[in-house]
This record gives sequence, C-alpha cells and structure tokens, in this order.
Amino acid sequence: MKPPKTIPDYIRTIPDYPHAGILFRDVTPLCADPQGFRLAVDQLTLPFTGQKIDKVIGPEARGFLLGGAVAHQLSAGFAALRKQGKLPPPVIAQSYALEYGEAVVELSEHAITPGDQVLLVDDLIATGGTAEAAVALVERLGGTVSAAAFIVDLPDLGGRKRLEALGVRVHTLVAYE
Ligand code: PRP
Ligand code: ADE
Repeated sequence: MKPPKTIPDYIRTIPDYPHAGILFRDVTPLCADPQGFRLAVDQLTLPFTGQKIDKVIGPEARGFLLGGAVAHQLSAGFAALRKQGKLPPPVIAQSYALEYGEAVVELSEHAITPGDQVLLVDDLIATGGTAEAAVALVERLGGTVSAAAFIVDLPDLGGRKRLEALGVRVHTLVAYE
C-alpha cells in the first residue's frame, strides 16, 4: 500500500517564473486535490483552534481561498487584503516590496473592528513584505495580528524572522531552503 501523500507531494516548483531566477512554489495542485486541500486547511488551522481569533486576514489572491476556509473552521470573520484599486472606499493603503517587484495593498476600513485579534493566512511567506503590510494596516485600524499561518516558508528570504520581530507567532507547514 502506498503511504498517504503529504503537503510537499502536492507542491509544484516552476523554475524562472514569473521572472528569471525565481523558483515559483505553486500550491495549485494542493488546492485542487480534495484530500490535499483538506490536509492543508486542517494543518493551517490546528494551532489556533480554541483561541480567540475574531478575524482572518488573507492577501490576494491565494490568501483568499486559504484564509476563507480557515476563517470558516475557526468561526471567525474574513478580511480581504487587496491589490490597489479593487476595493470601494473608504480604504487604507500600504506600499511594500515583493521578492519580484513592488506593490500597494489596501484594506477596507470596515474590515477590522478596534480590538480585533487577527490571524494572517497565506500560501507562502518569502520576504515578508506582504505580511508586514497586512500587519501595519490591521494595526492602523486598531486590531492586532497575533499569529500568521503559511503553507510554504522560504527562510532564506527572511520573512518569517521579520514577522517574528514584530511579535507575530508564525506557523508554517513546509520550508524550501
Ligand atoms: C505571493 C504570495 C504571497 C506573497 C509572498 O503573492 O501568495 O502573498 O507573494 O511574498 P512576500 O513574502 O515577499 O511578500 P503575489 O504578490 O505574487 O500575488 P498573487 O497571489 O496575486 O499572485
Ligand atoms: N511569492 C513570492 N515568492 C514566491 C515564490 N518563490 N513562489 C511562489 N510565490 C511567491
């Protein structure tokens, strides 16, 4: 009998995408597989069951599908962190640097209530720029990002350490050096 598949079995690596020199870690096959998706959502959620989480914040685009599923499991609300120009006003904005480029993200002023305890969920942490922008926006609205959960960690890019230095507890399922 074959051993059960684990998270890395479902992750695809694409060299030189979207730019030369980038090894793109693709969670599409993981999310497309019924057992894989349940495994990922369950493992992302597990450390936070029974904790006070009012909202999950998920960055566009893969943070929407994972964060939405985790929010449902935790009976929390969901806040969408979107690329610039996608949300109706009033919004607050934050610019940040990516592993491959620069961007601005926005959050609806109605997404967070002052005092909210927030869990950040995304597919991957690389430089931590996206996550740090999310933390800054949540704090500007009076919430606290106490923890963050990612399927993939790219430790060489330093994002995890950057988030931990902000006091965020970081939970990841697989790391690629
Ligand atoms: C990817 C990934 C994370 C972010 C991580 O999203 O899904 O959100 O990059 O990188 P960082 O830690 O260096 O900030 P991307 O910005 O490519 O957006 P997409 O999901 O819309 O493709
Ligand atoms: N986002 C930033 N860096 C990435 C990578 N190497 N693979 C997938 N998504 C990413």
